[in-house]
Amino acid sequence: MAAAVDALKKIRTGEVKRHKTNESYWVIINGKVYDVTLFLEEHPGGEEILIENAGTDATVNFEDVGHSTDAQEMMLTYLIGIIDDNDGNGGGGDASSVTTDLITL
Ligand code: HEM
Repeated sequence: MAAAVDALKKIRTGEVKRHKTNESYWVIINGKVYDVTLFLEEHPGGEEILIENAGTDATVNFEDVGHSTDAQEMMLTYLIGIIDDNDGNGGGGDASSVTTDLITL
């Protein structure tokens, strides 16, 4: 399991923030980064809410909805990386807060 997390691309929070345009929409959920650009039209909850949450940590909003197991499996399709702000640039990231839990299929 740890190997799978290690294999994920490390992405800074600041980079995610830039992905909220009509070309690219990323969200952070539980320390992982999802590119939902191609998912907007398919999202059962509508594209508007994904656009509103793009570029941010949407963990709380995502969990408030109480997404189903199906939804959580679907997320894997859009997983592109893991948040890692600990790259020595003093970005204020807290690597210890990065979750390493994996969704069990
Ligand atoms: C990759 C990320 C996401 C996936 C794969 C996803 C998937 C889904 C799916 C499959 C549903 C249908 C209900 C269910 O099965 O739970 C749903 C509903 C919904 N989602 Fe998402 N979702 C994602 C991110 C988000 C985010 C970031 C928000 C922000 C609040 C959100 C808000 C909602 C809402 C409001 C509904 C409608 C709930 C209802 O009608 O009761 N989703 N989503």
